Amino acid sequence: MAASAVPLKLSARFSNGFDVCTGCTLPEGDRTDKPNLRRLSLFPAFFGQCDLTFCPEGWIFASLCSPNLSMAAMTNTAVSDTNADRASSVPPRLPITDYDAQQGWGGAARGAERSRWCCEQLEAGRILSFDSLPFDFPQADRDFLLQQRQNGSRIHKNISYRPGQDVLRGSVTDSPEDVRRLHDILRHFSREITRLLTRVLAPYAPHWSLDYASYRPEEEQGRGLPLHKRNDLLHVDAFPSRPTQGGRILRCFININLERSRNWLTTDGFAQLAEKYARPAGLEEIARQGGSAGSFVNLLKRAVGLQSANRSAYDKFMLRFHDYLKENSDFQRDCPKIHIPFPPMSTWMCYTDSVPHAVLSGQYALEQTFIIPVRALVTPEKSPIRILEKMAGRPLAGRAA
Ligand code: SIN
Ligand code: FE
Repeated sequence: MAASAVPLKLSARFSNGFDVCTGCTLPEGDRTDKPNLRRLSLFPAFFGQCDLTFCPEGWIFASLCSPNLSMAAMTNTAVSDTNADRASSVPPRLPITDYDAQQGWGGAARGAERSRWCCEQLEAGRILSFDSLPFDFPQADRDFLLQQRQNGSRIHKNISYRPGQDVLRGSVTDSPEDVRRLHDILRHFSREITRLLTRVLAPYAPHWSLDYASYRPEEEQGRGLPLHKRNDLLHVDAFPSRPTQGGRILRCFININLERSRNWLTTDGFAQLAEKYARPAGLEEIARQGGSAGSFVNLLKRAVGLQSANRSAYDKFMLRFHDYLKENSDFQRDCPKIHIPFPPMSTWMCYTDSVPHAVLSGQYALEQTFIIPVRALVTPEKSPIRILEKMAGRPLAGRAA
């Protein structure tokens, strides 16, 4: 199929769509020589091949290989990475096509540049995706996980693995041998994802804390969970039992279903959501009250090791915001929506505390969570805590985060 080169320039805000221009003022050579120029293949699942080149002036050169691609459709998906103002707009999936399980990024210097860029993209609200599982995950292990469900529903719910303590939770299989196997598989998965992210997101690796991993064998469609536990409603993540003090929740998912996609929904990014909903959700009141660490009851709770006693104002707000978004039926109904199918045997990662997400359908996913402290971020000013602090006009957690 013949590709036509279409020069585009984004308008000031994503939601205003594109201005379609007749040409870029940059000389041809400059378009490819700029050090921060990016080439991406975006959204092949929606449009067929669509190669975008971002240049520093905010221009995008799109080689559109889909004959049916309309500009209207483009406005719902593509973004420029050159303008901080747009970082908070609709978070797109960003396929990574130049990372290889064996070769990594293909060289130390290139790796340093690419992994820093990946951190920037994640912090700007993008979802990085790979159309494969770029790490070791033996087929026998995957078959075992899929069979567990098929052979008489021996696993009924999410299984969690705590790498810090090497503990498996939630397994309801009655065979000790199966429990051991499951434990081995999740331990291996957790280590492999850690190795993968150590290479893909190198700047974070010295700083992160490894959180839980999970196996999600349930069909997500129609699970009938209570409102605040529903994953099919748009939300941002916050953990009641593990306050982060402003640290970010980074999650890496894989879909091991051989036939079906895992289907996500997303909408405007965190900055836009906060601008609209943080005050109605109670930001100012929570900021005024501060964290829970000081009270006598919380001192007691801390003495017996209850993490929830360490909730900063940030943690309290994020828990509230999670619930508020799920409770808000107008928001759920009326917000702009982008459907993202994650195909069989693919991998994706994002900051789920700032990328609003809902999973509409899908079965057999695994996930590993990392907590990234604010000091490790390459653009901390884009983090939810800094956005909320700016709105509230005061710190929402101790500066140690
Ligand atoms: C979630 O964090 O809401 C769940 C996402 C998923 O399982 O795909
Ligand atoms: Fe979530």
